[in-house]
Amino acid sequence: MLYSEKVMDHFLNPRNVGEIEDASGTGTVGNVKCGDIMKVYLKISDDGTVEDAKFKTFGCGAAVATSSMATEMIKGKSIDEALRITNKAVMDALDGLPPIKVHCSCLAEEALHAALWDYAQRKGIIIEGLKPPVNDIGEHDEVMAY
Ligand code: FES
Repeated sequence: MLYSEKVMDHFLNPRNVGEIEDASGTGTVGNVKCGDIMKVYLKISDDGTVEDAKFKTFGCGAAVATSSMATEMIKGKSIDEALRITNKAVMDALDGLPPIKVHCSCLAEEALHAALWDYAQRKGIIIEGLKPPVNDIGEHDEVMAY
């Protein structure tokens, strides 16, 4: 079996699909390798806790599974903890991905970071260790689907 049971579960029953209308930050990133797109919405409370996370992905099964897991992992976390949700951590939580699909998990990490960056920009704060998103492609709502 190419994919773990957890990957298949999150692919077939993705958690947190959708939008957050009054999101504190959003991040839209594209994967240069395959052209897939992901948008993440974060709701962050005044004390800096991620209260809710949702995503929309126009992408492959591994991208859907990693976004699903990444949004599950970030909920309830502080900003600092959220920053430590790397693609490696998400892949570990999914019991791994085939090597050819590792780049898909990077999309989820980049989308989370882009949403945190947007949040920081809106709040006028600096999040230590957070870099500006590289693959931010801005608003592409018209091509978003899942
Ligand atoms: Fe594009 Fe997986 S093939 S994100």
